[in-house]
Amino acid sequence: MNSKALLEMKGITKEFPGVKALKGVDFSLEAGEIHALLGENGAGKSTLMKVLSGVYQKDAGSIELDGQAVEIADPRHAQALGIGIIHQELNLVPELTVMENIFLGRELVMTLGFIEWKSMWKQAQEILTRLGSGIAPDAIVSELSIGEQQMVEIAKALSYETKILIMDEPTAALTGRETEHLFSIIRQLAAAGVGIVYISHRMEELFALSNRITVMRDGAYIGTVKTIETTFDQLVKMMVGREMTVRFPKETAPIGSEVLTVENLVRKGVLHNISFSVRAGEVVGVAGLMGAGRTEMARAIFGADPIDGGTITVAGKKATISSPADAIRAGIGLITEDRKHQGLVLSLSVGENITMAALDKVSTYTFVSGTDEQKLISQQIDSLKIRTPGAEQLVKNLSGGNQQKVVIAKWLATNPKVLIMDEPTRGVDVGAKAEIYQIMNMLTASGVGILMISSELPEILGMSDRVLVMHQGKLMADMPVDGANQEKIMAYAAGGE
Ligand SMILES: Nc1ncnc2c1ncn2[C@@H]1O[C@H](COP(=O)(O)OP(=O)(O)OP(=O)(O)O)[C@@H](O)[C@H]1O
Ligand SMILES: [Mg+2]
Repeated sequence: MNSKALLEMKGITKEFPGVKALKGVDFSLEAGEIHALLGENGAGKSTLMKVLSGVYQKDAGSIELDGQAVEIADPRHAQALGIGIIHQELNLVPELTVMENIFLGRELVMTLGFIEWKSMWKQAQEILTRLGSGIAPDAIVSELSIGEQQMVEIAKALSYETKILIMDEPTAALTGRETEHLFSIIRQLAAAGVGIVYISHRMEELFALSNRITVMRDGAYIGTVKTIETTFDQLVKMMVGREMTVRFPKETAPIGSEVLTVENLVRKGVLHNISFSVRAGEVVGVAGLMGAGRTEMARAIFGADPIDGGTITVAGKKATISSPADAIRAGIGLITEDRKHQGLVLSLSVGENITMAALDKVSTYTFVSGTDEQKLISQQIDSLKIRTPGAEQLVKNLSGGNQQKVVIAKWLATNPKVLIMDEPTRGVDVGAKAEIYQIMNMLTASGVGILMISSELPEILGMSDRVLVMHQGKLMADMPVDGANQEKIMAYAAGGE
């Protein structure tokens, strides 16, 4: 490591209407260092990195690059200074190809002749291969899975000459294997002298990858520690300001009759004769590798995709579902993994998003005594601890984890009999994760059945009563959680017996 810091941020302050997002934050980065940034949802991590990458202008404080004071005017300027960022929420143009996205906005594209096209293709192909992905440069982004789209974001950032590479939750949608590839790439880049800022809520990743960890809480700088000298418990304490006891606070609810019965669900080429049930008070975890068809199954049940066969019964009543509206009416809720495109309307307020799916259900809402919409909204904001200055705040201004809580609030407001949760805690900090688990407990205690799709096996094992495992659109296993373990699940997920 170099003695002179590559980057020195001091006393960075940033205020949004009603929110002091950064209150004098310090952050430094050495060449070749992997420096993790840790903090609860809304702590200010993304904001600090947006200041560094020119997306936001700081109100006060200083930034030095290689000992030189700089004022970063906009994202282009940041790029020219060698600062690259992979944003938390995907920022691709869905209609364009992978290659076009990678080179978007660069002069090269404007004057595109055959030669440039060929060299771009080659460069794109090279980066994608380096990332260990088989994505074709001419694939249309909207046709890729979220994990693949994340890979394209990473490819885009790697296509620049970067001295500082910021990764804001890059692995949230990646499989274990893709994450391993990414880690080896990050280590290579660091070995070549690039300074890496790495934001993740997955603490194991920080321990595996980082040299130092800086913790933020409520917009304030809490401290910086050397990774080898710290512990999980110390970090959690710095982060939440108190000790956290149980990671998975699963409470077992009385199990009732079937609230969701799926029989022989078929979607040609995607889902093959899937049958299972979820009972009242039960959490059924759905494990599988990316591409196993879990999200597709959820979408088919919810009427978001057409099916070619099968029946769906909700609480003993056969449901005819040909659209999400039918599913909501039947008593099914779906919390999607892709909150930006399916879960939320970012340009609407927190309150509008919460009541959106409830339609005329506000009056039958059982969690609050009143029937008043405003009361419902503020109740949801309180009980889910959504960090927002008020119900009028636009959802796009909330931090990633708090957006996820709005998605949950929205579905709770529809009062579902069965709730499908697709990666419910992705990108959510440990404190908020525990809050979401408590919400699941509250729901099962009131007789809701939960179908929880998750790629985090500890979460599947920690929160489910029963575990389903999918592989290539087929249901490979249906077992009580007591008999399940990581090895068994992985064996089924890989297609074994
Ligand atoms: N453009 C904006 N307008 C208003 N408030 C904002 C804006 N951007 C961020 N905030 C607020 O600033 C605070 C910090 O948000 P930030 O996105 O930096 O958190 P974070 O640490 O990245 O959280 P997460 O882990 O959930 O992604 C939050 O309270 C957020 O609502
Ligand atoms: Mg963030």
